[in-house]
Amino acid sequence: MHPVLRLARKYGWRFRWSYGGGVLALLLTNWLGVRIPVEIGQAIDALGKGGPVGQHAAWIVGMGVMVLAVRTLSRVLFFNPGRGVEYALRKDIFDHLMRLQPAFYAVHKRGDIVSRASNDIGWARLAMGFGLLAVFNIATAFLMTGGQMVAISPKLTLFLIAPLVVGLVLVRLCIAVLLKTQRLFQAEQGRLSDQVLGSLQGIATIQGFVAEEAFIHKFEQRNHEIYRLSMKLAWLRSVAFPLLILASASAIALLLGVGGPMAVRGELSVGDLAAFATLLATLAGPLRALGWMLSIIQQSRAALERIFELLDAPVDRPEGQHPARSPDPGRGPGFRIRDLSFAYPDEPDRLVLRNVDLDIAPGSVVGLFGRTGSGKSTLVRLLARSFNPPVGTVVVLGAGGSQQDLVSIDLDAWRERLAVVPQRPFLFSESIASNIALADPPDLDRVRAAADRAALRGDLAALPEGLDTVVGERGIMLSGGQRQRVALARGLVRDADFIVLDDVLSAVDHETEARLIETLGSLAQGDRAPTRMIVSHRLSALRGADLIVVLDHGRLVDQGTHQDLVARPGLYRDTWIVQRDGHARQGRDLAAGEGT
Ligand SMILES: Nc1ncnc2c1ncn2[C@@H]1O[C@H](COP(=O)(O)OP(=O)(O)OP(=O)(O)O)[C@@H](O)[C@H]1O
Ligand SMILES: [Mg+2]
Repeated sequence: MHPVLRLARKYGWRFRWSYGGGVLALLLTNWLGVRIPVEIGQAIDALGKGGPVGQHAAWIVGMGVMVLAVRTLSRVLFFNPGRGVEYALRKDIFDHLMRLQPAFYAVHKRGDIVSRASNDIGWARLAMGFGLLAVFNIATAFLMTGGQMVAISPKLTLFLIAPLVVGLVLVRLCIAVLLKTQRLFQAEQGRLSDQVLGSLQGIATIQGFVAEEAFIHKFEQRNHEIYRLSMKLAWLRSVAFPLLILASASAIALLLGVGGPMAVRGELSVGDLAAFATLLATLAGPLRALGWMLSIIQQSRAALERIFELLDAPVDRPEGQHPARSPDPGRGPGFRIRDLSFAYPDEPDRLVLRNVDLDIAPGSVVGLFGRTGSGKSTLVRLLARSFNPPVGTVVVLGAGGSQQDLVSIDLDAWRERLAVVPQRPFLFSESIASNIALADPPDLDRVRAAADRAALRGDLAALPEGLDTVVGERGIMLSGGQRQRVALARGLVRDADFIVLDDVLSAVDHETEARLIETLGSLAQGDRAPTRMIVSHRLSALRGADLIVVLDHGRLVDQGTHQDLVARPGLYRDTWIVQRDGHARQGRDLAAGEGT
């Protein structure tokens, strides 16, 4: 379906009464527009016969005033729904963007999305306001004016319509090129937005490495391309519309050439000829608008295609319309992972996890260890269903033997049980309390308790307004370790069943690390213990775990307790020896320093 029609059907229908009123006002406007020339023709004929013209003059003035009023009314009744459609569309886009999963964002650029939701959406308003108005206006104007012309002289009308048809065909050709150019233009606008967004986000890096020139140069290239395309668009428009004006000028020439002799032969009165001329002049406006309308419809089409592409992007929910309940909510889930292999959607050929088999007991503490790039965060993302693992590879276990395939569980219900503190947490430029609660308004008592458990008390005391401190864009005012602990508090504030700390403990000192591990341990109360997963390079953080898993190049190469793993050769023991010796040396150096 033509995207403009789809827009009209989905979003325009609810404004049908307003449009209906607008159509009535338009009909009246155009009827008056036709009546006035006829009245003028009659006045002229009356003058010729020497009769009174006062009544005709009064009618003409009265109708002129009425035209003004109903014309304005028709605009209001058409344009307001255009704004309403824009509002509803913008809301739907944002709602949908909130539901789309990382797999979508891995392949779509933020700036381009922003451009669609801002630049392109303006065309929706134009299409549903000005565009529809123009369609009705032009259609009624042509029907009525044409009808009136036919009523006066069918023969002359036929002559006059010919140049208009030729003009329209030529305009169609221009408009096809216009559509193509408009598509390029909008895609380029998306790229420019993305570039501006990226440059602003990385402004500190750009300045830090004195890379301004390079970025300005890249921007300039894009900017110039946009300039070139917009010049081309302007050129196409300025060629297309005069074609129609030219056509109506030819029609006037034909009127004189054909209509004049007809009047001489007595087939037409001079008044009829004058009425024809006025009718043609009345058509000039709608003709010019016709050019605009066609171009607006084509440009809106290009923009709406991009918007519907966003709205049609499927939300990746393999659980379908009838998701399974997550087993045993309220207590830590276990996992049975079998033959789990995974590649990211943007690089489907590169396996990041390979044939992983792993059993995680409900309520246990699991340590995840492995070199950088070994797939630890990826495993976490799959368990949190930021990306969906293949069906059948991850089964969630509840106490008492209940089990459920992870991807058959309702995504929101599953996420409500989780608290994942990611490696690079995202903070919003709001207060720390809002960042922790992620709710409006935040429950301050819970927030404070969570901040304490995340070992933030000391840091908060040093900040100007404590929990109310606004952290700057993306938390720029906080250190890396503070940002992670704010994110940890965000995880602790909700009584989650499954808590994951992805490398959160490496950015804190050993004392804080010990406190955080103690906090994690204290979360286990009775048989309702949450399952906890700690990802770390620092083995001191993993020592107390019930099970430690070693990943290497996406493969699970070893698992066991700390005692098990240091007792046998391998990556874990090698790392343990290096870290233990490093620690001991540090200790000796400190002691030596104190002695002098
Ligand atoms: N969103 C992504 N798209 C494509 N590839 C990715 C993505 N995220 C990670 N990778 C790749 O997957 C592999 C595993 O990455 P992952 O982040 O899971 O490693 P990690 O063990 O957490 O490493 P680190 O200890 O440095 O955090 C890497 O080779 C990385 O390049
Ligand atoms: Mg990682």
